[in-house]
Amino acid sequence: MESVAKYINSNRQSYVEELKDFLRIPSISTLPEHKNDLNTAAEFVARKLNDAGMENVKVIETSGHPLVYCDWLNAPGKPTVLVYGHYDVQPVDPLNLWDSPPFEPVIKDNKIYARGATDDKGQMLMHIKSVEAFIKTKGSLPVNLKFIIEGEEEIGSENLDAFVNKNQSLLKCDCVLISDTALFAPGIPTLTYGLRGISYMEIELTGPNRDLHSGTFGGAVENPVNALAEMISKLKDSNGKIKIPGFYNDVIKLTTQERKNFKSLPFSEKKYAQMLGVKELKGEKGFTVLERIWARPTLDCNGIIGGFTGEGAKTVLPSKAKAKISMRLVPNQDPKKISKMFTAYIKKIAPKSVTVSIKDLHGAYPIATSLDDKPTLAASRALSKVFGKKTLFMREGGSIPIVVVFAKKLKAAPVLMGMGLNTENLHSPNEHFNLNHFHLGILSSAYFFDEYSK
Ligand code: BES
Ligand code: MN
Ligand code: MN
Repeated sequence: MESVAKYINSNRQSYVEELKDFLRIPSISTLPEHKNDLNTAAEFVARKLNDAGMENVKVIETSGHPLVYCDWLNAPGKPTVLVYGHYDVQPVDPLNLWDSPPFEPVIKDNKIYARGATDDKGQMLMHIKSVEAFIKTKGSLPVNLKFIIEGEEEIGSENLDAFVNKNQSLLKCDCVLISDTALFAPGIPTLTYGLRGISYMEIELTGPNRDLHSGTFGGAVENPVNALAEMISKLKDSNGKIKIPGFYNDVIKLTTQERKNFKSLPFSEKKYAQMLGVKELKGEKGFTVLERIWARPTLDCNGIIGGFTGEGAKTVLPSKAKAKISMRLVPNQDPKKISKMFTAYIKKIAPKSVTVSIKDLHGAYPIATSLDDKPTLAASRALSKVFGKKTLFMREGGSIPIVVVFAKKLKAAPVLMGMGLNTENLHSPNEHFNLNHFHLGILSSAYFFDEYSK
């Protein structure tokens, strides 16, 4: 391993330059006008994998954005690792809150600022560079390796889901290595063993058949924005419990042991509130912050659209109002069942004065994995070696839809070896990635391949 680590250490600066090139591609998956940028990003990933020495590199068209696949299967008798990551990024709005343009990476305080820096371009590139280090120094890898990189993670991974179902033998592997999560804190080696799922819904209320003068008609007809606000207020009670009937039926209760483990982590709710700029935290009664975000389901309104939102005042009684509502789910909740319950409840609480249309935008299953299978133990040893500290295990509030599909269809253990930080503004302005963690991540990837081959 010494020669591999030496190679990685001596190429530190060029890795950062390569990451900058990657970050200049505005691969926003949800915006149709960026379609070509997603193709460019897929080509970029394919080229890097090829340069690293991977074989059978392919850009695979889908009905959405392309997938990138490659393999290196020249280690007979050794296990096979599938590396997963995503080259798509979130939209950049509100653009005026960025200190520098989102697709012109800059480095400040050893952090690289750009959309996608931590989620997930920087983290994905780590594995390509660790592979390259092995092949350039030793001419081979200690394990068999496959990569599947997608461009639709931020929009629900539908095409990859279909691809995995159809290509189970192509993707056959013993574990799936993913860096798309966070460290518990800077410099703390962390493995994530649980992710929440999600059910993402959109509701639209229509009242009168056109926008009306709020003076001549106001008082005589339902205002859909008011009605929507009333309905949203009925989704949760004052203790933070979700009022949808049956919502908690399948929730697995936290064990005493797990609650104890969470409590033993160095976490200050006071500092957390300060960091977020709030006077008081708010959430489900009877649970700590870590329990609330890692192991309890939630319901949040992501956005409300309706009526006049321009500057100044316009007197109008709008015809329509819309809300985007997501629920984060925990084992063993099923997003399909949850969206049905949500739909039934919304229909029940909607006043007769409006018509409601409800859309199920996407869903993902939650997961909690075992802590003592071979790949997880190998990852834990690898991280401890690189960081010089004991590896910490945590759960995570975010979702990576495809992880459950890999676990179920490929029967492969996910290894969530994230190097991000939840303070790195993913999905928000001034996203960045700590370059120290970028470097440690390349080393950790290499040490993982080595430890897992033993
Ligand atoms: N990498 C994130 C998920 C994540 C964030 C995991 C923070 C751990 C810590 C991923 O790219 C993401 O944003 N997922 C979406 C999924 C959704 C669009 C289905 C999410 O969680 O909102
Ligand atoms: Mn991600
Ligand atoms: Mn994301």
